[in-house]
Amino acid sequence: MTHGIQPAPRHDFSMDLGDAELTARVAEGLEKSEKLLMERLSTGEDFIVDKVTHLALAGGKRFRPLVALLCSEFGPHPGSDNAVKGAVITELVHLATLYHDDVMDEADMRRGVESANARWNNTVAILAGDILFSHASLMMSEIDTETVRHFADTFGQLVTGQMRESVGARGGDPVQHYLTVIREKTAVLIASAAHLGSLHAGASADVVTRCETIGEAIGMIFQIVDDIIDIFSDSEQSGKTPGTDLREGVFTLPVLYALEDPSPAGERLRGMLTGPLERDEDVAYAIELIGQTQARQKTLDTVRHYLSIVDEQLAELPDIAANRALRDLSQSTVERVG
Ligand code: IPE
Ligand code: IPE
Ligand code: MG
Ligand code: MG
Repeated sequence: MTHGIQPAPRHDFSMDLGDAELTARVAEGLEKSEKLLMERLSTGEDFIVDKVTHLALAGGKRFRPLVALLCSEFGPHPGSDNAVKGAVITELVHLATLYHDDVMDEADMRRGVESANARWNNTVAILAGDILFSHASLMMSEIDTETVRHFADTFGQLVTGQMRESVGARGGDPVQHYLTVIREKTAVLIASAAHLGSLHAGASADVVTRCETIGEAIGMIFQIVDDIIDIFSDSEQSGKTPGTDLREGVFTLPVLYALEDPSPAGERLRGMLTGPLERDEDVAYAIELIGQTQARQKTLDTVRHYLSIVDEQLAELPDIAANRALRDLSQSTVERVG
């Protein structure tokens, strides 16, 4: 049943994608997907609806729906109903992973508000995430079995990535381990958004594959940038508590590069970062030391590698306004680091 709650979408999709017609079409698609998202999230018992709408109402960039809609421009039916559903599915799955991720990371803040585990408790946050998966699964089944199959694979990779992160590098190359983890836990879902958007707009198999590759590379950039932000930004900017990864003993790319740094700061970090950091002053000191190494520059070099993959693939796609918008989107993802 649908309750009277029907929270008004708070998202403002005014943006400039460099072309007036493209901007209008994508804004319309985003508005439709927001409406559908909130409709579905408002369905169910009231004691569930308040929990599952908590994060959707708090904010969020709607990055995956944007990627889906931009990629739908490469087919003959941009912004088709199923492309919009694809956009919503990826946001639902993303939201579910945020609820679960904050339990695993013991995070207390998300999208500028209390995380669900902090606001209620772990049980509530896990179950809210599960309901989101049920909404997403229903919507996939409304498209076709191919979409369900595609997501079975996506789910598998998301979980594998989270599990791989928690078991650690186990003696392997930590940088390679990190790159595999982020491909699985983050890039795969953004690649799915690109896949569903282009496929359900009727794009050819070749174009769908290129869109997926672009989505995956943007996803890699996105997570690496997020990991830079976790170290170098304050919570006002990120809506999350800085240093969360360090507290959990999860060493992201900037930390791994800092640990390889030959400087005295690198040396001190090697002595200090042997597991999770519990005290706030230790986290602050580690962040200060990381700032004294070449880590940030090296991490940005890796980001530039993935930017070049985006460029290579875009060069093989039609030179339409969405092509330039995807290029700008990957650039602006990098600019989030400030
Ligand atoms: C956060 O994703 C989790 C990562 C994969 C880094 P977003 O940065 O897209 O989070 P919202 O949706 O804007 O809150
Ligand atoms: C991002 O993991 C991937 C998912 C949320 C599935 P993180 O733990 O790095 O994400 P944030 O920083 O909490 O958003
Ligand atoms: Mg987290
Ligand atoms: Mg995490």
